[in-house]
Amino acid sequence: MWVWKSLICVVFAGSVFAGKAQPLPDGPGKKIIESACAGCHDLNVVTNKKFSKQRWQVLVLGMGGSLSKSESAAAIEYLAKNFGDSDRGKELVEEICSLCHEWERVKDHELSKEQWAGVIKGMIFEGAPVTDDEFEAIVDYLAKNFGKAKEQ
Ligand code: HEC
Ligand code: HEC
Repeated sequence: MWVWKSLICVVFAGSVFAGKAQPLPDGPGKKIIESACAGCHDLNVVTNKKFSKQRWQVLVLGMGGSLSKSESAAAIEYLAKNFGDSDRGKELVEEICSLCHEWERVKDHELSKEQWAGVIKGMIFEGAPVTDDEFEAIVDYLAKNFGKAKEQ
């Protein structure tokens, strides 16, 4: 497995340096990704993905062989936060929206993205602990799954 991957890396290397690396968003874990993940392939391979935390975990544990436990954990957090898919939105909704009422009540609604943004702003006004970054993940998730125009 590892020998095989090293072989592929040699092949990869030719094209890696031709591609322009996309800058990674700031945050804890950025440095780890830069040093641990750019060796075999372009960082674009990482930054053009949207994966669940679970999937990032599998990838980091599989490919970040030289990372310590805490470095892996930081890398997984960072990737899930910046390149996560809607699983994160779901987790956030279940976690945060159930603090004051059943989160399932979102299912009674079919709203546009703008309308969801309005509802969530209302919830923040009520005291929902939502950061800017979580706000986007939540609105995206709700608009996608409980939206007016089903996009998918
Ligand atoms: C030892 C070499 C090596 C290192 C180091 C490495 N990768 Fe990879 N990676 C590969 C190879 C080879 C592929 C393509 C074949 C494959 O999927 O196994 C790949 C593919 C990927 C893909 C695409 C997988 C998919 O399902 O589309 C992602 C995402 C990825 N790597 C993320 C990372 C991250 C994050 C790190 C840092 C923790 C990392 N890689 C470090 C060798 C490496
Ligand atoms: C701090 C408490 C609190 C949190 C956290 C909270 N809500 Fe609410 N929510 C309320 C209150 C208060 C109301 C209005 C009174 C009621 O309907 O019970 C409400 C009502 C709603 C309604 C009905 C609004 C309408 O116009 O029909 C929806 C939908 C809703 N919340 C969604 C959410 C979502 C999604 C989240 C997570 C991002 C969330 N809430 C988190 C307090 C909260």
